Amino acid sequence: MSDSLYERLGGTDGITKIASDLVDLHMANSSIAPRFTNSDPDKLKNGAATFFISGTGGPDVYQGKDMLATHKGMNISASEFMAVLDDALEALKMNNIGQREQEEVLFVLYGMRADVVLV
Ligand code: HEM
Repeated sequence: MSDSLYERLGGTDGITKIASDLVDLHMANSSIAPRFTNSDPDKLKNGAATFFISGTGGPDVYQGKDMLATHKGMNISASEFMAVLDDALEALKMNNIGQREQEEVLFVLYGMRADVVLV
């Protein structure tokens, strides 16, 4: 596989669109939407996009905290984590991302579970 996951997700433009759709899905997902009632959607979209860009082999643009520091004390449940993964898969499909890339993204996100759930 020669192209980075960043390239295969459509680079900065592609990932910015996926991240925007992801945040919109979270805001509309009744099992997690209450978590984001006080969030600024544009800030959240920027955080999600830059995190993905940096984490998939793109430029080093993420300026937020690491996942453990971000989610510490939020008492996030396993089912809320699953809801986020469901939305991630949906956002990838909405943007016609191939199955191979869908699998890679889900695998990477799943790997962050220990830094997010009940921390
Ligand atoms: C692998 C799964 C997850 C990843 C990669 C992830 C990633 C992120 C990122 C990048 C940020 C922004 C940090 C920043 O800009 O400093 C963030 C914030 C946040 N995340 Fe997650 N997250 C995940 C799972 C979850 C889950 C399951 C929940 C609960 C439903 C959640 C709730 C939040 C909340 C409430 C914020 C703060 C929003 C704000 O500041 O307005 N996250 N997350």
